[in-house]
Amino acid sequence: MNVHVLENEEAIGQAAGDLFCALVRQKPAAVLGLATGISPVPSYRRMIAQYAAGKVSFAQAITFNLDEYCDLPREHKNSFFSFMQRELFSQTDFLPEHINFLDGNTADEFAESERYRLAIEAAGGIDLQLLGIGRNGHIGFNEPAENFTVEAYKTALTASTIAANSLYFDDIPMPHYAMTMGVDSILRAKRLILIATGSSKADAVKAMLEGEVTPRCPASALRRHTDVTVYLDPAAAALLRK
Ligand code: F6R
Repeated sequence: MNVHVLENEEAIGQAAGDLFCALVRQKPAAVLGLATGISPVPSYRRMIAQYAAGKVSFAQAITFNLDEYCDLPREHKNSFFSFMQRELFSQTDFLPEHINFLDGNTADEFAESERYRLAIEAAGGIDLQLLGIGRNGHIGFNEPAENFTVEAYKTALTASTIAANSLYFDDIPMPHYAMTMGVDSILRAKRLILIATGSSKADAVKAMLEGEVTPRCPASALRRHTDVTVYLDPAAAALLRK
């Protein structure tokens, strides 16, 4: 894995955002795997700035988000769909018909998983996947488990994840389930970028990079992929041996 420790979130956002812009300039119909949460926001800001400056257009790009809450209307302000509209799509020229999400309100999670797998396959696979990491080492909503997961599925969120994300829910209780891409389906991306900032991620970053490859730390599965770039700030990198 290529691990870079950059000075702050802004520098990381610039580096990661520029990788997305460079890919889309070279391949306008690129397939982008996107994430929600705090970690990708500076990257999205950079992509918005590059778009506003006329340096890139996302009009042909196709997107697939990693995950979505269950039992939450898509229009609710805390859905990942709404988050992406706010933080990226509405401020750029991504076309609604090129934007893909798992349906967290599906009545048939297995059919929904298969639909997503086939849609990604039909688009030619994900060219570049952006990831954050949970404090417990999760990627997407793949929580620590006994086995690595495969395709998209409905998962129960852990207490750690509910505690971390509950602060965003001020009107209704946070959902306890989500649909997420599985670890194998994430690893099928041709190239991945993982961003971690802040001291709350230091243990998970150490386990991902220096611990054993185990489903107890789902992010450690990235060590099986040959093209992963990790961007850390000094606080997230603080526990690494080198
Ligand atoms: C979000 C996702 C999660 C987050 C992770 C880190 O789509 O898949 O795995 O990347 O929970 O979240 P932040 O960046 O808010 O610390």
